[in-house]
Amino acid sequence: MTRPSYIEVDLKAIRSNLDVAKKAAPNSKVVACVKANAYGHGAAEVAKALDGKVDLFGLACLEEAMELRQSGVETPPLLLEGCFTEEEWQWSSELGFSSVIHNKYQLEFFLSLKLPKPTSIWLKLDSGMHRLGFAPEDYQAAYDRLAQDEHSNSITLMSHFSCSEELKNPFNDQQLNTFVSSTEAIDAKRSLANSAAILTREDTHFDWIRPGYMLYGNSPMPGETPKDRGLSQAMGLYSEVLAIRTIAAGEAVGYNQAWRANKETTIAVVAVGYGDGYPRNVKNGTPVLVEGKEASTVGHVAMDMMLIDISHLPKTRIGAKVEIWGPNLSVSRVAEHSGMSGYELLTRLTTRLPRRYIT
Ligand SMILES: Cc1ncc(COP(=O)(O)O)c(C=O)c1O
Repeated sequence: MTRPSYIEVDLKAIRSNLDVAKKAAPNSKVVACVKANAYGHGAAEVAKALDGKVDLFGLACLEEAMELRQSGVETPPLLLEGCFTEEEWQWSSELGFSSVIHNKYQLEFFLSLKLPKPTSIWLKLDSGMHRLGFAPEDYQAAYDRLAQDEHSNSITLMSHFSCSEELKNPFNDQQLNTFVSSTEAIDAKRSLANSAAILTREDTHFDWIRPGYMLYGNSPMPGETPKDRGLSQAMGLYSEVLAIRTIAAGEAVGYNQAWRANKETTIAVVAVGYGDGYPRNVKNGTPVLVEGKEASTVGHVAMDMMLIDISHLPKTRIGAKVEIWGPNLSVSRVAEHSGMSGYELLTRLTTRLPRRYIT
């Protein structure tokens, strides 16, 4: 018998979500972010499904890019953190990968190398997030230094939003203004928008958009369902009820007796745990669906199992299908209840869960 827990990824949904992004920004080229194993969906499979339909794949590092190349994916990668060593720059230049440069040390190192071919560089501005990027006052000089050298054959200007899903946060305008004022005197293509900005702010689209979370069918805006934006959640995480027991009022369940019943309660044990990437410290009351009906978690999640209260679902039998999240329960909703971000829930999933693909 096989453990009944698995991930199902609908690649058709991912293609249709890409269409939503393209429709929102019809004049922009697309960097599809498939880093971190395509947000947990399987990088090679997702990239193959989008190969030729996007202009670049956004990846964190060379190892991720190599995995796609070895899988036969042809659309070139963009290394969003850039290269870390001389060897990586050599590979990247030889294979025609695009790469971010985000600080002066990286820029000088790149320019000091003898590389086989000129590289396409994405020059990153720190427009306020204070993570990666050149400060606005250093940006023009960094661009000039790169443009005057023969190491690169094209330069794209980019920055990244810190809180674009917070639609009323004035910091978004501040970042946009910094991006515009730091780049308007430069004759080069520009890129700023991630999913939330693609979906809500046309004024951020510029020449290239960089969708990630929305490709997988999720709205980054708190409280929104995928449908609100015409998206379809691509991932379903499924399991089954493994055991059922009724406990008396006053009894506790699971590790550390972390949850205690205040009335007689029926508990179902479901075969997904933190060893699969489901968070151990998820809040009590996080929703799951049992045969399509909502129930909620109680107590600490264990390595291989979680506990749910099914007192209101007396017909539930061992073997009942459980949707941890999926087309009927958005990962964003689970995220809101669990006190985590949907991005994190998706990317935590481990390789123990088999991934099945709907093509
Ligand atoms: C530089 C950069 N661009 C684009 C994205 C995609 O963002 P989202 O998944 O919110 O669309 C990310 C994601 O972390 C990123 O780091």
